[in-house]
Amino acid sequence: MTRCAIHHAAAMAAVHAIAFPDDPWSESSFSRLLGQPGVAGLIDERGGIVMLRCIADEAEILTLGVASPRLGIGLALMQAAIAQAKSQGAATLHLEVAESNTAACALYKQLGFKQTGRRQKYYDNGGDALVLSLNTG
Ligand SMILES: CC(C)(COP(=O)(O)OP(=O)(O)OC[C@H]1O[C@@H](n2cnc3c(N)ncnc32)[C@H](O)[C@@H]1OP(=O)(O)O)[C@@H](O)C(=O)NCCC(=O)NCCS
Repeated sequence: MTRCAIHHAAAMAAVHAIAFPDDPWSESSFSRLLGQPGVAGLIDERGGIVMLRCIADEAEILTLGVASPRLGIGLALMQAAIAQAKSQGAATLHLEVAESNTAACALYKQLGFKQTGRRQKYYDNGGDALVLSLNTG
């Protein structure tokens, strides 16, 4: 697991394009994000990325994706993101997930995230987003 610097932007975009083929983020988007205050990116060399933003005592996951599913990479990335949020002073970590995303919902449940909100018809396909939160302990 490596903390990302700007030079990781291309590798991050490559993983994102595999994990989110319908909505890939560009290398320049990752560069821009990595330059913003409070934003941290982590890359798993096996093929996975997570980005989070910490502001005061709250943090949010901006994106999480793996190139090869079911190898434990997503879990490792989220555990690292929780530790990163805590180290940046965040007591609570939030994220949004499509209610229909069974893989991600199961992962977050396993980590102890609880539903704290719902955004009706949040996605283009009319699906709802769930807002999940975790006390970083
Ligand atoms: C969600 C995602 C990051 C999970 O990463 P992963 O590396 O495949 O997950 P892991 O192998 O670490 O699995 C950890 C846990 O997640 C859950 N999980 C992962 N994939 C699952 C699936 N297809 N179905 C059900 N549960 C699943 C399980 O609880 C699993 O624990 P287990 O292996 O003990 O059963 C991955 O599927 C992905 O990149 N999806 C596309 C992008 C995406 O949807 N990102 C999240 C947006 S909110």
